[in-house]
Amino acid sequence: MNVLLTGGAGYIGSHTAVVLSQLGHQVILYDNLSNSSCIVLEKLAQIAGRKIPFVKGDVRDTGLLSNVLASYEINAVVHFAGLKAVGESAQKPIDYYTNNVQGTISLLQAMQLRGIKTIVFSSSATVYGEPRYLPLDENHPTNATNPYGRTKLHVEEMLRDVVTSDSQWRIACLRYFNPVGAHESGLIGESPCGAPNNLMPYIVQVAAGQRAKLEVFGGDYPTPDGTGVRDYIHVMDLAEGHAATLNLLSQTTGWHAINLGTGKGYSVLDMIQAFEKASGRQVPYEVVARRAGDVAECFAYPNKARELLNMTARRTLNEMCASAWRFQQSIQFE
Ligand code: NAD
Ligand code: WQD
Repeated sequence: MNVLLTGGAGYIGSHTAVVLSQLGHQVILYDNLSNSSCIVLEKLAQIAGRKIPFVKGDVRDTGLLSNVLASYEINAVVHFAGLKAVGESAQKPIDYYTNNVQGTISLLQAMQLRGIKTIVFSSSATVYGEPRYLPLDENHPTNATNPYGRTKLHVEEMLRDVVTSDSQWRIACLRYFNPVGAHESGLIGESPCGAPNNLMPYIVQVAAGQRAKLEVFGGDYPTPDGTGVRDYIHVMDLAEGHAATLNLLSQTTGWHAINLGTGKGYSVLDMIQAFEKASGRQVPYEVVARRAGDVAECFAYPNKARELLNMTARRTLNEMCASAWRFQQSIQFE
């Protein structure tokens, strides 16, 4: 299959490119490099053993997208491109709506023009908002609590309308929980621009000595050790989930929302301990006040992915930490 990955130079897109290309798909990356670098293209070539075509472009550029879809004879699109920082989305909502919502409209227009009706969309567990019950299944009510989350929800709803209007579309909204880790080679991984917003890249930078200590946001949650609990999923398991989703969509039409998580929750202190063990480094930390908008616990009911995609996240917490550390060391000694 010829698959276009928008945002394909980014963290999850690059890992998915590896998996799809190893399965024999022809992968084309489309990215404006606003949160990534073309260095990843060299690394991908090293891992895949061949160059992966790349087009520098913005998803809001419908004309360019439409040309790319036609010239590479694309059959399906995996749509990763977008902005993803929750805090920043409250400061710059217009940027978030244009990149994430307008960007998706532009992509859908280009796809419609070319008669391409298969799309996998990067959604997020954030669409569930404050959990009313746990674990979170796909029928849990949606209620985003920040502009970023609302962009994801708007796109999910828009995609549902598209399927209602034309039953030939094949659409999956993958609701990722907390992706962490890196490809086992250590060549690609998560390298945020500026200070990390998420826990794992922050821990990595503290372990590497780039930051003095980790601030643990809240030690008084109603959880076993008082710190926040999340469902961390290895990015390679997540990437494999995309391949399985494309396979599903090759056999079925309609709109599908599917959780990608492990079903297991780990606390912030569990993560620190696991990382120290995997890296052999200390992660100094201080428990500070809760971060606004955080929930105590969030983890998936992953059975729909198991049933529909025949997929179970199989990589361990130790593999998540060890691979993230391997990637950090590879960029540190470059
Ligand atoms: P990332 O920032 O590493 O990758 C996104 C890529 O999209 C980047 O390479 C960026 O340059 C590109 N991009 C952004 N706006 C663009 C535009 N207008 N046109 C073209 N390219 C553009 O992020 P990621 O972690 O790989 O996330 C991928 C997707 O998954 C995002 O949509 C994100 O919202 C979603 N998601 C991520 C997480 C997470 O924790 N990483 C969790 C849930 C959902
Ligand atoms: C995890 C835990 C923090 C940083 C966010 C988005 C969500 C999704 C994934 C895109 C929490 C604690 C964190 C730190 C800490 N992204 N923490 N110190 O908040 O579950 O989800 O990323 O869709 O939409 O909201 O992930 O990695 O920020 O936090 O103590 O410096 O680590 O309080 O308990 P979160 P996270």
